Amino acid sequence: MKQSRSFALVLMVVAAMLVLASCGSPTTGTGDSTGAAGTAASVAAGGATASAAAGGTAASAAAGGEAAAGGGLPKVTKKDKYKVGFAQVESNGAWRIAQSESMKAEAAKRGYELIYTDATGSEAKQIADVDTMIAQKVDAIFLAPKSEKPLAQAVLKAKAAGIPVFLLDRNVDQSLAKPGQDYVAFMGSDFVEEGKRAAEWLIKATGGNAKIIQLEGTVGSSPAIDRKKGFDDAIKSQPGMQLLASDPSGDFDRDKGRQAMETLLQAHPDVTAVYAHNDEMAIGAIAALEQAGKVPGKDVIIVSIDGTRDALQAIIDGKLGATVECNPRFGPAAFDALERYAKGEQLPAKLINPDKFFDSSNAATEIANAY
Ligand code: AHR
Repeated sequence: MKQSRSFALVLMVVAAMLVLASCGSPTTGTGDSTGAAGTAASVAAGGATASAAAGGTAASAAAGGEAAAGGGLPKVTKKDKYKVGFAQVESNGAWRIAQSESMKAEAAKRGYELIYTDATGSEAKQIADVDTMIAQKVDAIFLAPKSEKPLAQAVLKAKAAGIPVFLLDRNVDQSLAKPGQDYVAFMGSDFVEEGKRAAEWLIKATGGNAKIIQLEGTVGSSPAIDRKKGFDDAIKSQPGMQLLASDPSGDFDRDKGRQAMETLLQAHPDVTAVYAHNDEMAIGAIAALEQAGKVPGKDVIIVSIDGTRDALQAIIDGKLGATVECNPRFGPAAFDALERYAKGEQLPAKLINPDKFFDSSNAATEIANAY
């Protein structure tokens, strides 16, 4: 009995040594795998921690990527054509559809192979989608993270697998993953500035006197956080700009925006202005206001963000006051960034899109270019 127990113990020790030895020997690639086994395992187990960010290179070999020595950003080998992943968050409106189309069209134009996934608004699915791209050994991943915290984990997993990540249109929590270290760069708009521009227009349009309802975007997403900050900071110094309510249930979605507005109207029938974090929710709010017998554009002044075709039409119809552009056409800039990175260029932490502004002065001419 005693003898068989010691034999079992010896077997367990030998098995553990074999596992450790196999973790330390990459099958392909040139990544530095030193000390990476534990880190990669903890990332795979879902640990979005600073220590995970600092290390994981063991899986790089498995994914065919080239992790930088010392736990830095994975590199991309320069090629004529790349195999890339685009992990889209959802397809719940014109903005997302335009972004997906831009990525697909540009990939086709350049002869890239594009692995496209749609997480249908689920953080868990988006994390799993990135896992699939890692397993498919893409050269780079373009990720539009649903929210800042949970998706940082997907960034770290890709890094540990030796695959560089470019964040498209939404950011991740900077305390969990950092540009130039865990992901290459954030590409998108300056959301704080968008919120500020919406507030400045509203202050002018209302003469600095308004009872405002704010419809926030997806909870925990960088545009919702920053657009709120930009707007709230800008109206702080205006005593006549009164925020009646700031509602987090609209989720960047037209129908959820309509439902939120319907409920809010019961508590705040005296509302005179709406600031929606995107056009979809603004259009939903317009429907709710009309349903309640109010005249959008007269009784209630509305401002939002994106610049969709429906929003420009609502401006032409006099229902929406203005919308700050948030450009969704990422394809050319995204793949230019990848090619620059593959050539060894160090990209800035943020690549900010210049955004236009649409109101009654230009909506009729701009609608021809809208999506
Ligand atoms: O991240 C950008 C935002 O996400 C767009 O404003 C919105 O319409 C989308 O869902």
